[in-house]
Amino acid sequence: MNDRRKIYEGKAKILFEGPERHTLVQHFKDDATAFNAQKSGTISGKGVLNNRMSAYIMERLNAIGIPTHFIKALNMREQLIKRLDIIPIEVVVRNVAAGSLCKRLAIKEGHVLARPLIELYYKSDALNDPLINEDHVLAFSWADSQELEDMMTLALRVNDFLSGMMAGAQLTLVDIKLEFGRTQDDNQDIVLADEISPDGCRLWDSTTHEKMDKDRFRYDLGNVADAYQEVAKRLGILPLTHSRTTTAIKGAAKKPAAKPHRKKRQP
Ligand SMILES: Nc1ncnc2c1ncn2[C@@H]1O[C@H](COP(=O)(O)OP(=O)(O)O)[C@@H](O)[C@H]1O
Ligand SMILES: [Mg+2]
Repeated sequence: MNDRRKIYEGKAKILFEGPERHTLVQHFKDDATAFNAQKSGTISGKGVLNNRMSAYIMERLNAIGIPTHFIKALNMREQLIKRLDIIPIEVVVRNVAAGSLCKRLAIKEGHVLARPLIELYYKSDALNDPLINEDHVLAFSWADSQELEDMMTLALRVNDFLSGMMAGAQLTLVDIKLEFGRTQDDNQDIVLADEISPDGCRLWDSTTHEKMDKDRFRYDLGNVADAYQEVAKRLGILPLTHSRTTTAIKGAAKKPAAKPHRKKRQP
């Protein structure tokens, strides 16, 4: 690990140079941040679970023809990925109102949207990832119109597929944040990047609407690691011997939410 060249260390992951040209090793940490790193901590075992979950989901997306950067799992915390030129846009798809949408438009959390809503945010920690529209993307040449169309179409397909997968696990996909990049070959195809995990989705228990994602960390709801484990368990990607019960999560949801002292945009 020491002789590998570190390309980038972010809030949740580290990127190392991969063994072949145009590849990277993505290493998943237990570190968690929220509200633009105003809040930080660790979620024990998160990196292992997110690595597994993202690998599992991206493998299935690849299988149904949605191109992703995922090549193969390497170990508990690492996966081999295609190195991309990341487009500095976060594509958020929402099915149910939550988070910043509720604040911005005074919508009640849990309001079921009549159709999936796509929002675009400019990826900039310094600016708190501001909400933008398609014109900004084109006017600043962050992507061309074909790339933008590809990103939006792929985002909706990912949302459809994942909503179904989660429903089968008694989970509601409330919203999801996606990143895309261009392949570094001549084609420069648009490919799904980063990760798909409870760090970047909102997942609620379908019946109780209990939060099973990073909101447990954001709002100090407790039992964060248990919730991530429960999601993995329900998706069938955690050996049963490693799983724990969810009884603890249930009671913890009643704890009042702590107010962050500064807001960061999150889906
Ligand atoms: N296939 C890829 N090629 C290059 N960069 C990627 C790829 N997938 C994800 N990234 C970038 O790697 C970083 C992942 O680390 P993370 O801890 O999430 O960083 P951040 O703090 O910037 O969100 C992100 O900046 C993401 O845009
Ligand atoms: Mg990130």
